[in-house]
Amino acid sequence: MKISIIVAKAKNNVIGKDNQLIWKLSSDLRLFKKLTTGHHIVMGRKTYESVGKPLPNRTSIVITRNRDFELPEGHYVFHSLEDAIKLCISRKLEQVYIIGGAEIYLQALPICDELIVTEVDAFPQGDVFFPAIDPDQWNEISREHFPCDEKNEYDFDFVIYKRNDQN
Ligand SMILES: NC(=O)c1ccc[n+]([C@@H]2O[C@H](COP(=O)([O-])OP(=O)(O)OC[C@H]3O[C@@H](n4cnc5c(N)ncnc54)[C@H](OP(=O)(O)O)[C@@H]3O)[C@@H](O)[C@H]2O)c1
Repeated sequence: MKISIIVAKAKNNVIGKDNQLIWKLSSDLRLFKKLTTGHHIVMGRKTYESVGKPLPNRTSIVITRNRDFELPEGHYVFHSLEDAIKLCISRKLEQVYIIGGAEIYLQALPICDELIVTEVDAFPQGDVFFPAIDPDQWNEISREHFPCDEKNEYDFDFVIYKRNDQN
C-alpha cells in the first residue's frame, strides 16, 4: 500500500493559520480533489474541524485522543496514526492519502512513500509548518508550474517527491 502525503506549503513552509488555509488556489483544490476522490484520507482532528464535515466521495479517517469523538457513518475515528494505517492495510487498499495537518504530517513523514507538494510562491505569516524536505531522503520526480490568475492567488508548483530507497 502506497502512503502519500498531500500538502500545500509556502516558501517558508507555512501551511496554515488560526486553523484555516491561507490562500485561494482553485487549481490546487482541483488537483487535490482529482487525486483523493474515491480514496481513504487520513487527517488530524483539527484539520477535520477546519473543514467541518467529511469531504464528499472519500472515506475520512480522523485521528484524535478524544474517545467520545464521532463521525457520520462510513467514516472512521482512530486514536493513533498506526491504527489508522492498520485499517487501510486490513482493507487491502492500494493507496492512502495523509492530508494533514502539521501534527499528523510530522508523524506520517517517516512512514510515507511519496510527498505530493503544492509549493506556493508566497511567504505568509502562519502558525503551522511543514517540516523541511530533506534532499538526501527525497527525490523530486516531477514538477509542474501553475501561474497565478483570477482564481489562483499565487504562482505555485505541483511537485512529487519519492523516498530515496538508498536510505
Ligand atoms: N496547507 C495544507 O496542505 C494543509 C493541510 C491540512 C491542514 N492544514 C492546516 O493545518 C492546521 C491544522 O494542523 P494542526 O497540526 O494544528 O492539527 P492536526 O494535525 O490537523 O490535528 C491535531 C490533532 O490530531 C490529534 N492527534 C495528533 N496526533 C495524535 C496521536 N498521535 N494520537 C491521537 N490523536 C492525535 C489531536 O486531536 P485531539 O486534540 O482531538 O486529541 C490533535 O490535537 C490548520 O491551520 C489547517 O488549515 C494545512
